Amino acid sequence: MLVAMSSSEFHHRYGPWAVVAGASTGLGAEFARQLAARGLNVLLLARRRDVTEQLAAQLAAEFHVEARAAAVDLGAPDLLAQLRAAIAGLEVGLCVYNAASSLIGPFLEQPLEEKLRVIDVNCRGPLIFADELGRQMAARGKGGIVIMASLAAAQGSPLVTTYAATKAFDLVLAEGLWDELGLRGVDVVACRAGATRTPNYEAAKPAGKVPIMEAAPVVTEALAALGKRPSVVPGFMNRLGDVVLGRLLSRKTAIRIMSRTTRRLYPDRDDAGRQLLS
Ligand SMILES: NC(=O)c1ccc[n+]([C@@H]2O[C@H](COP(=O)([O-])OP(=O)(O)OC[C@H]3O[C@@H](n4cnc5c(N)ncnc54)[C@H](OP(=O)(O)O)[C@@H]3O)[C@@H](O)[C@H]2O)c1
Repeated sequence: MLVAMSSSEFHHRYGPWAVVAGASTGLGAEFARQLAARGLNVLLLARRRDVTEQLAAQLAAEFHVEARAAAVDLGAPDLLAQLRAAIAGLEVGLCVYNAASSLIGPFLEQPLEEKLRVIDVNCRGPLIFADELGRQMAARGKGGIVIMASLAAAQGSPLVTTYAATKAFDLVLAEGLWDELGLRGVDVVACRAGATRTPNYEAAKPAGKVPIMEAAPVVTEALAALGKRPSVVPGFMNRLGDVVLGRLLSRKTAIRIMSRTTRRLYPDRDDAGRQLLS
């Protein structure tokens, strides 16, 4: 059980500004809410500025913090310039790289450009944020970075093959930075979330049932793990599944189980899979 630090300690280590990349809905909006509730000013980044502006106004009114919104495309070639413009003049003590792009379906049926865009948003994006903000935090000798990975990072996950591979990148990136930046006073954690009820998860219309968490406890556990360990799996059922798939079973079996689970969740995306499993 991870014990959360007090709001004043949290503010001292990670304030005064937090940047949340992918903050308009779902887990990102919940990160913004919980960070504002701890007294941090929040900068909300997403493509839909109207949605983040509305959320920023709500958070400012409710928690008496400064809250701003900026339109940023995390997959854009000029992401570093967009990030620098958005954070100009702000002392950013905490960065949450939350957004991800994902494709569901057979690898060969997905256009190459779309798969490369998944890599841009999910891998190039967090690398740029960690480089730019990690450098500033290390110079101050304090700060924190949360990178959203996934339980899918632990093994190949058919039908979400590219997405899962990018999440493995996110996990390993955060783990390396946990040590490297940790020695410079900057806490880094990867959040290996399992299925979480968010607008984007529900928009994919999963057909089968898997244990699902609400966004709030996922975010609470991620923030509580910051400064304590390199990665966290929120939720008891997810931790159990992680131990079984990641440590007790062979990799071959774990991949097959992920294959069956994903094909049952998304039967309409997979003709080959129906044949394979029948
Ligand atoms: N939900 C789950 O079941 C689950 C499970 C495991 C891990 N995760 C991880 O948790 C994180 C959050 O997931 P989520 O379900 O809340 O939804 P998500 O689709 O990953 O993130 C949604 C947020 O990201 C923003 N976003 C997406 N693409 C963007 C881009 N190119 N540029 C700027 N902003 C962008 C969206 O805003 P705009 O559309 O306005 O740009 C929105 O605010 C992801 O990293 C995901 O991999 C989720």
